[in-house]
Amino acid sequence: MPHQIQHMGSGIFSLGLSKCGQNRHFISRTHIKPRLLPRRIREFHMKFLFFLAQRYLYELDQHLDRFLKSATMAKIKPPFERETIRKILIQTVSASKCRKGSLRYWLSAGPGDFQLSPSGCHQSALYAIVIQNQSPPDYSGIKVVTSSLPIKPPQFAVMKSVNYLPNALSKMEAEEKGAYASIWLDFDGFVAEGPNMNVAFVTKEKELLTPEFDKILSGCTVKRVLALAESLVVNGMLTGIRVDKVTIEEGKAAEEMMLIGSGVLVRSVVEWDEQQIGDGKEGPVAQALRNLILDDMKSGPASVRVPVPY
Ligand SMILES: Cc1ncc(COP(=O)(O)O)c(C=O)c1O
Repeated sequence: MPHQIQHMGSGIFSLGLSKCGQNRHFISRTHIKPRLLPRRIREFHMKFLFFLAQRYLYELDQHLDRFLKSATMAKIKPPFERETIRKILIQTVSASKCRKGSLRYWLSAGPGDFQLSPSGCHQSALYAIVIQNQSPPDYSGIKVVTSSLPIKPPQFAVMKSVNYLPNALSKMEAEEKGAYASIWLDFDGFVAEGPNMNVAFVTKEKELLTPEFDKILSGCTVKRVLALAESLVVNGMLTGIRVDKVTIEEGKAAEEMMLIGSGVLVRSVVEWDEQQIGDGKEGPVAQALRNLILDDMKSGPASVRVPVPY
């Protein structure tokens, strides 16, 4: 596909569309010619969707807050104020004309001299890419395995960055074993998270249980799921919601297990380390939570849905 450089205002330079498998990519960046590959990039991604005549970015502000918090932890000063970054991201989606897909963005220390210290990088840079997703969603039950790779230390696990080699290797380990994802345990042996998703369980007592967030990434999706799940407590499907330490035995004995994240939304785990979870089928709570999230994307409050002017 041809590449066209287009000035879109607000420091956005579209590099045109590129085609990659089933997905179309639309890229913008705040430097026209970054001479070097971005170093110390911080990554983030989220989903947006098209609904009726309006299109929305889902949980833009929640993801942006985590992005900026991660930037502070990584000691990168963003090139723009929050509001400008927000506008750039919305404009990028709008310029892409993409109606269904995801937006990923990165913050880099900027073009520099390939040294370890970023002191030779003059100006941080923001990169954004819109990925059109044409594949139909797959919500079938999946298998997971316990990761043999160690989780990142808490200081790095709570931060969204592109230091994702352990995450990539852990995903590859799962695929090599015919599973969808590997589940990390923390350094004390408690259930932690997947390589790009959180985990949650429904206990025998019908409590929704998810690991504490002090040693893992604080997932925007799981946080929203926890809020939406209150309605399942009200209707009696759940007896309560608990954020707590989870042992591997407790997890494997759960009635339901699910992976939760902006990529998978809510997906049932039916087997963990070749041990069946619950009755080996997608559970009713996982199904209900996914429906709640999908409804929230279509008709949730303004705090989670930001309109994109196309
Ligand atoms: C390590 C890790 N945990 C959890 C998540 C889920 O976070 P979110 O719901 O914000 O996508 C992600 C997302 O990429 C992740 O990388």
